[in-house]
Amino acid sequence: MTRPRLAVVGNPENRRVTMLLDAAARCGMPTPRVVSWREVLSEGGARFDPDELVRLDSPGEDPDVDALLRGPGDPTRIAEGPRWYASLLAAVGTLRGGRRLTDPLDLAVLFDKRRCHAALASHRVPVPISPTSGDEAPVPRNWPEVRELAAAAGLRRFFVKPAHGSSAAGVVAVETAPGGRVQARSSVEIAADGVYNSLRVRRLSGDAEVGALVDALAGECLHIEAWLPKPSRRGRAADLRIVVVAGHATHAVLRTSAHPMTNLHLGGQRGDLDAARAGFDSAGFGWGQALAVAERAAACFPRTLCVGVDLLPAADWRSAAVGEVNAFGDLLPGLTGLPGRADGLDTYAAQLAAIEGWADAAAA
Ligand SMILES: Nc1ncnc2c1ncn2[C@@H]1O[C@H](COP(=O)(O)OP(=O)(O)O)[C@@H](O)[C@H]1O
Ligand SMILES: [Mg+2]
Repeated sequence: MTRPRLAVVGNPENRRVTMLLDAAARCGMPTPRVVSWREVLSEGGARFDPDELVRLDSPGEDPDVDALLRGPGDPTRIAEGPRWYASLLAAVGTLRGGRRLTDPLDLAVLFDKRRCHAALASHRVPVPISPTSGDEAPVPRNWPEVRELAAAAGLRRFFVKPAHGSSAAGVVAVETAPGGRVQARSSVEIAADGVYNSLRVRRLSGDAEVGALVDALAGECLHIEAWLPKPSRRGRAADLRIVVVAGHATHAVLRTSAHPMTNLHLGGQRGDLDAARAGFDSAGFGWGQALAVAERAAACFPRTLCVGVDLLPAADWRSAAVGEVNAFGDLLPGLTGLPGRADGLDTYAAQLAAIEGWADAAAA
């Protein structure tokens, strides 16, 4: 076939877009055409040529785009997640022509943690137990309902997450003790005029304080799942982000943190990947099997070229579960590929290298 032409829908100043353009320049590809979300949202759509491969990228980090999707207000507030989600899917629906590298139906599942959990579970990918998996599951409307659903599922330690959130915004890690004592950790900040995402994880204690926080998030369509204990060393817990491109795990990062959420912007750090490999190998589970779990998770989204899988190793490294799958989980500057899988390539170069085979397979 002729060399594919790439278009990307994103925020042009976003580092994801500039890294993609850099990777294209390095491998001698024609410069991808950038279509901004702002243009798509304000002009009611965009049109692509039949042979253009269309990558959808994050609409995040642009206050104007955020306002168009979520409604006007401070972009760091945690509010209107369901509206943001509906607006994003509607905007994707206004893109005409071309061939998608990011499938709209996959995107709809990836940006709904409840549906994503159900999709993974139905493909027998190991996931934490959840009483809110899928469209049919109850949506808790307040803290007493969250507590009740968690208790009925047998969960004493659990995560509460806005279904359409990302970057740990609104994520709360809750621990309950048999006597009714409750504590939690979250980066959410409650202010007089609403709830905000901060960059600091703090502790909340007692039913009243934790309940007030969860109640303030209750409009966000909440997902609840078991809090899986992570392996830890010197007080830092660890999990992994694994990037899967065209079905193959190509990049992995060990993330370590003193907090239950390891997101890098919340103080998580890149750890020594060899320690993870050795952990899985010496526990008898095996590094290869850990990568295979991530690939099985990605296989639930076969029409999307690249996803980022949050892989949660068991505390003893003898198994691994999937916390979530991210549509835009490939922003990992300076990371080269796994040996024998994407040698010397960053996450964007690896996607460009996979594109031709992918485009042919998609056309077949
Ligand atoms: N069920 C879980 N058990 C243990 N840790 C979890 C669980 N779910 C999420 N985490 C931790 O919390 C972080 C944020 O959760 P995640 O679902 O990825 O939300 P977001 O999409 O907002 O980043 C994850 O990166 C992981 O470190
Ligand atoms: Mg995540």
